[in-house]
Amino acid sequence: MQTVQTAKRGAIAILTIDNPPVNALAASLRADLKAAVESAASDAGIDAIVIAAAGRAFIAGADISEFGKPPVAPILPDVLDAIEGCAKPVVAAIQGAALGGGLEVALACHARVAAPAAKLGLPEIKLGIIPGAGGTQRLPRLVGAAKAFPMMLSGEPVSGEKALALGLVDEVSDDVVAAAVALAQRLAAKGAPRRTGEQEDRLTPEDRAAFEALALDATKKSGDMPNAMALVEAVRNVFTRSFAEGLAAERALFLKLVADERSKALRHVFFAEREAAKIPGIAPGTAERPIASAAVIGAGTMGGGIAMCFANAGIPVTLIEQQQAQIDNGINRVAAIYEMSVTRGSLTPENRDRRLALITPAVGLQAAAGADIVVEAAFEEMGVKQEIFSALDAIVKPGAILASNTSYLDIPTIAAATNRPQDVLGMHFFSPANVMKLLEIVRPTGVADDVVATAVSLARKLGKVPVVVGNGFGFVGNRMLEQRTRAAERLLIAGALPHEVDAALTGFGFKMGPFAMSDLAGNDIGWRTRKSRGKTAAVADAICEAGWFGQKTGRGYYIYPEGARAGERDPEVEALIACISKEQGVTRRSFTQAEILARLLDPMVNEGARILEEGIATRPGDIDIIWLNGYNWPAWRGGPMHWADSVGLDVIVRRLEEQAAESSDTALEPAALLRRLAAEGKTFSELKVRAA
Ligand code: 3HC
Repeated sequence: MQTVQTAKRGAIAILTIDNPPVNALAASLRADLKAAVESAASDAGIDAIVIAAAGRAFIAGADISEFGKPPVAPILPDVLDAIEGCAKPVVAAIQGAALGGGLEVALACHARVAAPAAKLGLPEIKLGIIPGAGGTQRLPRLVGAAKAFPMMLSGEPVSGEKALALGLVDEVSDDVVAAAVALAQRLAAKGAPRRTGEQEDRLTPEDRAAFEALALDATKKSGDMPNAMALVEAVRNVFTRSFAEGLAAERALFLKLVADERSKALRHVFFAEREAAKIPGIAPGTAERPIASAAVIGAGTMGGGIAMCFANAGIPVTLIEQQQAQIDNGINRVAAIYEMSVTRGSLTPENRDRRLALITPAVGLQAAAGADIVVEAAFEEMGVKQEIFSALDAIVKPGAILASNTSYLDIPTIAAATNRPQDVLGMHFFSPANVMKLLEIVRPTGVADDVVATAVSLARKLGKVPVVVGNGFGFVGNRMLEQRTRAAERLLIAGALPHEVDAALTGFGFKMGPFAMSDLAGNDIGWRTRKSRGKTAAVADAICEAGWFGQKTGRGYYIYPEGARAGERDPEVEALIACISKEQGVTRRSFTQAEILARLLDPMVNEGARILEEGIATRPGDIDIIWLNGYNWPAWRGGPMHWADSVGLDVIVRRLEEQAAESSDTALEPAALLRRLAAEGKTFSELKVRAA
């Protein structure tokens, strides 16, 4: 099937790209587009060409699924040479997203018309690469390097209106094809087209100076990603090299980055995010229940944060507590957080007022009567939850969705307290709820499909990344986290120190290690949970028995001098740990950072494999998305299951066997799925997805 249709309007050829869903530049489209341009160029009855597109996107860029595979001719730069080199004017008619290679097609055209709301951008940086089809050379020539560089560094698109102001497009119109045809006619009357590659007037000494200042800043902040530096190098070439040399240098940098493991991980994340949006057994377009208002039960830190999510999305929400003093505290906490955003300049006072006005404080569950959805964020105890759900059952209107924000508890047991289990599910927010992107949507058997579909769609409206998971203790994220927490405690007893364990994780790319994190959250939280489950952890318990609850008490695994947020090593804690090792008859030994990392992460991967075996997560990619959005796993490491694939599952199995042999913890025995994949020489990414 042809992906480009040619129509003639007088002496103008209109080439319409149609490669659903988003007109990605797959090999077939590249070939069809080049052939269509060449055919129109050699047609004596044609004076000029318009490149337009069908569907919601103009062109979403290169076909990301082709990256890492052998190139298929014509490669994109060759298609763009044909466009830019065409003797007849070529005008792009951009009705929707023109991203990456899509914008590069438009840049190679001789003029551009965009719809006011079209999105134009070069988001390659987010995939660990840089533009590879002339973007770094043509965009600065059109808008100046000092404006082009930040666009490429952030990867954020601009609207058609903004693009006009920048000089990136020539016109903005609601009817882009008609406007492009008119412009093409005018250009044809003028004679030879003006090629972007030949324009140098924006590349002034002032522009270079401004670019160099931005480049210096970017160099300081580039962190672990090599592509920011490559971008600086490529853009600088517009001042120091010819256009052809600049294009060649850009392509070489692009190809090197595409082959880098970090870009591979980010591409995995791109597709995993989109896969996670597909819910097994629920057809896209399943009718949803209308959500015009919400209620949140419990105005603690979590409940307040959840209420803010609704208010931020413009959905009126009633925040409910048992007593006036509690709700006053809750509302004050919410107001203080909004105030902080106003002080920082990220929220206007008007928006603060608007959001606060959407949150109605109330005392007593009766206030939830009119809500379309109720999210319970009360005390984490089954009896409390059941009491609330049973009471809500008698209060809320038929068809209202009842969600629990529980982190661990069994949703069907909570649902059994009502006469409407089909309306009950889990919506597990992560702290701080108004900030963290992840939302685990817990789908117990028995919940209605439209309730799940509504929760997923609502999550998106709240700006969250929803991942549907099965019901089971700790669901996905916290269940895996528990394995890491146990591994960290084991490491301390075996000979490592808190700062060494934390350094292994920050060195890997996490913002914080497990002990710094526990000190921040409060060590007493885990202590209380362990006690309620009859569990112990020698070091963690001893720290809490000493009253060292973390930052809030000035001491935890680290000591926090007055006002300091970063902890310092605490000799007393280190002595306490050594003492516990001795009590347990362990001869302490030192661990390398690589050993520590493996001991922390391998048990998580193992638990992830069990979670997949049990069907609690649908796909390995879902687990990765959970860790990226809920636990700050570094995106360029792709998530725990992708990381395991990159290490090699046979390596993980061998290391787990070694650990299992020296420990009494049966959870360290490699999971059957992990063993099977390793034995077959396969990866998690090769797993067939169940019922997708
Ligand atoms: N390549 C391959 N597949 C793509 C794709 C791309 N560039 N862009 C989107 N898709 C696929 C998605 O995987 C999804 O597939 P699925 O239905 O099988 O899950 C489908 O198209 C629809 O995508 P979305 O769900 O994201 O659709 P939306 O309407 O929500 O968003 C969009 C549309 C804004 C265009 C968004 O898809 C997007 O941001 N795409 C990627 C843009 C991008 O990063 N482009 C740069 C690519 S790199 C490049 O061009 C290199 C060049 O310089 C040489």
